[in-house]
Amino acid sequence: MKIIISHVVALSNNNVIGKDNKLPWNLRTDLKHFKEYTTNKIILMGRKTFESIGKPLPNRLNFIVSTKITDIKGARVFKSTQNGINAAMSICNEDKQYNEIVIIGGGYLFRETLQITNKLVLTKVDCEIEGDVFYPDVDLIEWREKSTKSFVKDSNNDYDFVVKEYERF
Ligand SMILES: NC(=O)c1ccc[n+]([C@@H]2O[C@H](COP(=O)([O-])OP(=O)(O)OC[C@H]3O[C@@H](n4cnc5c(N)ncnc54)[C@H](OP(=O)(O)O)[C@@H]3O)[C@@H](O)[C@H]2O)c1
Repeated sequence: MKIIISHVVALSNNNVIGKDNKLPWNLRTDLKHFKEYTTNKIILMGRKTFESIGKPLPNRLNFIVSTKITDIKGARVFKSTQNGINAAMSICNEDKQYNEIVIIGGGYLFRETLQITNKLVLTKVDCEIEGDVFYPDVDLIEWREKSTKSFVKDSNNDYDFVVKEYERF
C-alpha cells in the first residue's frame, strides 16, 4: 500500500502560520477538522509545535523532533526529522492500521519535508496577518486539487476559510 506523507496546515493569505509560538487565530471548526483528519494516524511535529500544543494528542502516534529533549511521556522523540520519518515508515510497513504520516508543523518541519510530501491539506485562512512563522511557497502546478470545502466566519471562527486537499501529480 502506498504510504501517504502529508502536511496539514492552516495559513493566511500571506503564508503566516504562527505568532509567538501560538496560532494567530481562533478557528474552532478548523481544529475539529484537524482532529478528525489526524485521529488514528502518525503525527510528526517539531519541538516548538509540541510545546505550543502542550501535550501529546490522544488517539494518534505522536512523533516529535528535537535535539534538546530526549524523552516525552506519551510520545516518541527523534534527534532528526529523517529519523522520525524512517521510524514512521517502518510502522506503516509493519502495521496495516497505519498508512499516513501527517506532518503537523511548524515552519521548520514543513520546510524540511515539503519535497517528500505527496499530499497537502491546506486550510487557507482569508486574512493578511502579522506573524513570525511562515509556510513555504508551494508551486501548485505540481499538485492536483482533490477537494475543497468553504467555511464562513462566525462566532467560533475569526475568518472565512477554505480547506483544500491536493495530491502531487
Ligand atoms: N497554522 C498551523 O497550521 C500551524 C501548525 C503547527 C505549528 N504552527 C505554529 O508554528 C510555530 C512553531 O513553528 P516553528 O517553525 O517555530 O518550530 P517547529 O518546526 O514546530 O519546531 C522547531 C524545532 O523542532 C526541532 N527540529 C526541527 N528540525 C529538526 C531537525 N532536522 N533535527 C532535529 N530537530 C529539529 C528543533 O527542536 P530543538 O530546538 O529542541 O532541537 C527546532 O527548534 C508556532 O507559532 C505554532 O503555533 C502553526
